[in-house]
Amino acid sequence: MNNFHTPVLLKEVLGFLEVKEGKRYIDATLGGGGHTGEILRLGGRVLGIDQDEEALKYVKNNFKLQITNSKLLTAKGNFRDIDRIAHLNKFDKVGGIIFDLGLSSYQVDNPKRGFSFSKGGPLDMRMDKELAVSARDLINVLPKGELNEIFSKFGEERNALAISRGIVSARRIAPIETTGDLSGIIQQAYGIKGEVNDFTRANLNKRVFQALRIAVNDELGSLEEALPKALGLLESGGRMAVISFHSLEDRIVKQAFAGFEKENKGRVITKKPVTATEEEKRVNTRSRSAKLRVFEKN
Ligand SMILES: C[S@@+](CC[C@H](N)C(=O)[O-])C[C@H]1O[C@@H](n2cnc3c(N)ncnc32)[C@H](O)[C@@H]1O
Repeated sequence: MNNFHTPVLLKEVLGFLEVKEGKRYIDATLGGGGHTGEILRLGGRVLGIDQDEEALKYVKNNFKLQITNSKLLTAKGNFRDIDRIAHLNKFDKVGGIIFDLGLSSYQVDNPKRGFSFSKGGPLDMRMDKELAVSARDLINVLPKGELNEIFSKFGEERNALAISRGIVSARRIAPIETTGDLSGIIQQAYGIKGEVNDFTRANLNKRVFQALRIAVNDELGSLEEALPKALGLLESGGRMAVISFHSLEDRIVKQAFAGFEKENKGRVITKKPVTATEEEKRVNTRSRSAKLRVFEKN
């Protein structure tokens, strides 16, 4: 556990990866290094990738010794380029790869990053601050139909059209700049007046915020591109473990693994996704929606 992020399904992931002393592993979503730290402790060498400079900074400060001893290499980048990043770092053939998708607690909890509807902040939502387009741009520029599609498709938001209409009429008066501005429009589209409690606020906002985040970071596109590339990096018997947090991601993982199996590239180890124990769900609410799937290469 660390104050940046508490890793989910840690024991389960390590059980599947069967880390061996001296072998190479890729952590495609380094975050606060929760999974990486354990792989290192078990003697593995790790290439840790993250598109967020702040995650890399945190890890560099906390894993100085392992970095100095070349047990841990870090790279800034999107895992959709995992093949190129691995090649550049001489991690072409590895024993295992972990993807722990989505956001770290640090990203969610830092209001400046704009992911949180409970804390006011700029409408940003870029995991990689070098991305050209932020949530603010999408909200202020996209036509109503495209906003509606994003909220419906990536958030399964039943009130998507009313919210999109609300956005378009609000931005005629002034640009929508903050998470609070957006949250107010969503609340209005639901016809709810006055202060709401945290539970209601979360219920009203979570689908639209999730949808925007997915769109800004092209989360589904990155995942779709990354999985076949990751398979190409595994040595024979190597395993790829993917933890997802919503059904759209899980569907991509499930279908990609089924496709690999059909092409005789290996086998799905987890016929059903592995979920957190009741105890983990109790102490780490984030683990409640986590689903782990694992594939082993022939
Ligand atoms: C859930 S956190 C990982 C936490 C980490 N496993 C730990 O235990 O500390 C996800 C991390 O992956 C990064 N990330 C998400 N999508 C990415 C992508 N397409 N490419 C690179 N990094 C990504 C995020 O910036 C975030 O830091």
